[in-house]
Amino acid sequence: DEPRSFRLLGLPLELTERAAGCPFAPATRLTELSTTGPVHRVDGVNGDDLWVVTGHAEARAVLSDPRFSSDLTRSTVAMSRLPEQIRDQLLSPRNRAGNFLGMDAPQHTRYRKLLTGQFTVRRMRQLEPRIAEIVTEHLDALIAAGPTADLVSAFALPVPSLVISELLGVDYADRGTFQQRTAKLLNLDTPLDEVVEQSEALREFMRALIRAKRAKPTDDLLSGLVHADPDNPLTDDELVGMANLLLIAGHETTANMLALGTFALLEHPDQLALLRDDPALTATAVEELLRFLTILHLGIRRTPLEEVELAGHRIPPGANVLISAQMANLDEEQYEDPTTLDLTRPRASHLAFGHGIHQCLGQQLARVEMTTAFTELLRRLPGLRLAVPADQVPLRENMAIYGVHELPVTWDAARA
Ligand code: HEM
Repeated sequence: DEPRSFRLLGLPLELTERAAGCPFAPATRLTELSTTGPVHRVDGVNGDDLWVVTGHAEARAVLSDPRFSSDLTRSTVAMSRLPEQIRDQLLSPRNRAGNFLGMDAPQHTRYRKLLTGQFTVRRMRQLEPRIAEIVTEHLDALIAAGPTADLVSAFALPVPSLVISELLGVDYADRGTFQQRTAKLLNLDTPLDEVVEQSEALREFMRALIRAKRAKPTDDLLSGLVHADPDNPLTDDELVGMANLLLIAGHETTANMLALGTFALLEHPDQLALLRDDPALTATAVEELLRFLTILHLGIRRTPLEEVELAGHRIPPGANVLISAQMANLDEEQYEDPTTLDLTRPRASHLAFGHGIHQCLGQQLARVEMTTAFTELLRRLPGLRLAVPADQVPLRENMAIYGVHELPVTWDAARA
C-alpha cells in the first residue's frame, strides 16, 4: 500500500528511489530525466499521465502561473484515486476552511494577508529569545543525559514543535499532548483512517484553544487572528484550518532540515570545519543546505485549469504536474557545480521554500530557528559525530518530507 502522498500525486515509487550509499543525491530516475530536458511526461500509477518539471526556469514559470491550481479538487487523478469516504472527510468544506495552501486567488489572498499581518517584526523579535531558550534547554538536557543521543527525537522534532506552540499560544500544560498528536498525524506511515481520526482530535484541540483566545485574548498570533478582521471575522473553522496549516507546514519541515542538515554536515567534514571555524557563515550555510537538500523531495503539486503548453508539451486540464523543486535546485544552468555542497556559495535564490503566491510564509521564522539551532549545536557539542556507520542511518525515502527517522550521534563529553 503506497503512502498517502503518493496516492494524491499518482506518483510512481521509482521516482523517489535513491542509489544506495547516496543519501543526499536525488532519486536516480529524476537525475536521468533531468538530463533529457526541463519537462517530462511519465507514467503515473494506474496508467495516469504525470508531468514532471525538472528545469529551474520552467519550475519558476509554473509556480508563478495562475493557470496552475493548488486546489486538490481540480486534479482529476487525485479525485478519482482517493477512496470516497476519505475524500469526503478530508475535503469537506468544514475541513478545508482556512487551509489556504490548497486555495487559489482570490480566496487564497485574503487568508494569506490576514496571516502575514500577524507575522509582525515585533512578534518575530519577541520570539527570537524564546527560540534561543528552547534550543538551549534541549541542548542542556542532551548534554546531561549524553554523550550519545538520537538527535531527531531529542532535538530536531521538539524544537520546532515548541516554537509553533509558542507562536500560537498553546498552554505549557498542553504542549506534551499537542506534540504527540502532531507527531502521529504527520507520520505518513499512519493509515488514512487513523489520520482522519487524529486530525479530528487535533481540530478539537485547536477549537478549544480558539475558544479560550476568544474569551481571554493574549499576546499570541492566534489571539491576533481572532480579532484580525473585525468587519468580517474569521469563523472557528477557518481559524482551526489556519492554525493547523501553520503547524503542519512549520513542524516537520524545519525538523527534517535540522536533522538531515546535521547529517549532511557530518558527512562533509571539510564543510563542517569551515562552519565551526566561522559561525558567522551559518546564515549562508543554511541557504546552501536548503538548496542542496531540498527536503520537499517529492516536489510541489499543481493542476492546470486549462490546456497549457510547456516546453513543447501540451498539458491537459485536470492533470497532475509535479514541480521537482529538488531538480530545479540542482539545475546546471542555474548553479555552478550544483551537486557539490559548498557552504561558501554566494547566496543564490533557490526553490526550497517554493515560489509565487504560495511561497513559504514561515521562511523567516524557519531561518531564525535553523541558524540558532545549528550555531548552538556545533558550539555546545564539541566533536559531534555519528554514533553509527552512515549507511545505518534510516532515511525517510517514502515520506513527503525527506530526512532521517533517527540520527544517533555522540560528542566529546569532557569538552561539552
Ligand atoms: C508554504 C517549505 C517552514 C508555513 C511552503 C511551501 C514550501 C515550504 C515549499 C510552498 C508549497 C506550495 O507552493 O504548494 C518550507 C520549508 C520549511 C518551512 C523547507 C523549513 C525549513 C515553515 C514554517 C512555517 C511555514 C516554520 C510557519 C510557522 C508555511 C505556510 C505555507 C508554506 C503557512 C503556505 C503558504 C501559502 O499557501 O500561501 N513552505 N516551509 N513553513 N509554509 Fe513553509
